[in-house]
Amino acid sequence: MSLKFDFSNLFEPNISGGLTDEDVKSVEEKVTSAVRNFVENTPDFAKLDRSWIDSVKSLEDWIINFDTVVVLGIGGSGLGNLALHYSLRPLNWNEMTREERNGYARVFVVDNVDPDLMSSVLDRIDPKTTLFNVISKSGSTAEVMATYSIARGILEAYGLDPREHILITTDPEKGFLRKLVKEEGFRSLEVPPGVGGRFSVLTPVGLLSAMAEGIDIDELHEGAKDAFEKSMKENILENPAAMIALTHYLYLNKGKSISVMMAYSNRMIYLVDWYRQLWAESLGKRYNLKGEEVFTGQTPVKALGATDQHSQIQLYNEGPNDKVITFLRVENFDREIVIPETGRAELSYLARKKLSELLLAEQTGTEEALRENNRPNMRVTFDGLTPYNVGQFFAYYEAATAFMGYLLEINPFDQPGVELGKKITFALMGREGYTYEIKERSKKVIVE
Ligand code: PA5
Repeated sequence: MSLKFDFSNLFEPNISGGLTDEDVKSVEEKVTSAVRNFVENTPDFAKLDRSWIDSVKSLEDWIINFDTVVVLGIGGSGLGNLALHYSLRPLNWNEMTREERNGYARVFVVDNVDPDLMSSVLDRIDPKTTLFNVISKSGSTAEVMATYSIARGILEAYGLDPREHILITTDPEKGFLRKLVKEEGFRSLEVPPGVGGRFSVLTPVGLLSAMAEGIDIDELHEGAKDAFEKSMKENILENPAAMIALTHYLYLNKGKSISVMMAYSNRMIYLVDWYRQLWAESLGKRYNLKGEEVFTGQTPVKALGATDQHSQIQLYNEGPNDKVITFLRVENFDREIVIPETGRAELSYLARKKLSELLLAEQTGTEEALRENNRPNMRVTFDGLTPYNVGQFFAYYEAATAFMGYLLEINPFDQPGVELGKKITFALMGREGYTYEIKERSKKVIVE
């Protein structure tokens, strides 16, 4: 039971213009030193501290009382929760009765300040049986401060004690949310200080809502632990994360500036969203470690098979050859449907076949067509959507991102490029200490 990575279609002679043994040799030493660096200076996210699970489990008796958990967080404080929810629960989980859910909670994630989104969730919950898990590492993100204030206002309007319905996940010491915990007595969990938002899915950030909806969080950590162990192997052919980084780095240098991840499973689509943030925010950087301007990064693109075969694949096969495509494939689905016989000869090729058989054939067909067109692609196969496998997926891609950062000689753990927009928003909203004048455009092009 582990993920299988097939890199064949990234290489010559399987595709012409593909990677060669010489290409690999040219960066192998650098990849090995990235791995050594990972072993010697293991980032906190890969340490999988047992206390992350224990702290979440210590709240189990309280959490079990709630019918619904609403996560209020954004970016790395929301995407992991979405990825876990969609990949490891049935797609209609939130529509099931509590009995059908074996007593576990529904989980909604409000990761935007779109009033339609927030209202649609609020319309579907009963505050009396709802827990709001407010997640923000910095404890000050405007979007989360807004949704927290709304949730608190609703609880108070219902005459409920906010301390009995709000759980705060934030830095152990710093920030406004920690202050709230200290001053108002909210229950809380800690975001480990050394773990950045987009690397925090396996900390209490992702684990609390996962446990609340009955996901086996020990198994999740087991999978991640095994994958991090493999990510420490110096032999790159035993190290999927090193191979991901090596191949994507080489292709980036060959002008493939786009990394498409195409999941052949609706349940995996938020795993792709999670990857999209990790790859974009970690690797898209203006400066390298020496302070030189490099404007590097690879643009991650999300796609869903078979749906996007009817939307994107024309471009991927015949448009600019500027992409590396990763397929996510599940061998065994939790549910199955057999396509019935309709008595029409035109449909006989489908009759009595499993729906999954068609989906898997579509994945193979798309992969093969891309290979014929010399479009580099690779495949990650899950034998099933299990916590162990999903834990592995998170760990492999977190390690691969760290390796890519090392190869690109940039810091993958910061995000200076998001600060300016935040500051301007604060100024526009009248936050004390922030000023900004939107500059008058010397040239205006407005069409109505
Ligand atoms: O990866 C990151 O650091 C960011 O995407 C953050 O997760 C995001 O900005 C939310 O930050 P915070 O958890 O401080 O509210």
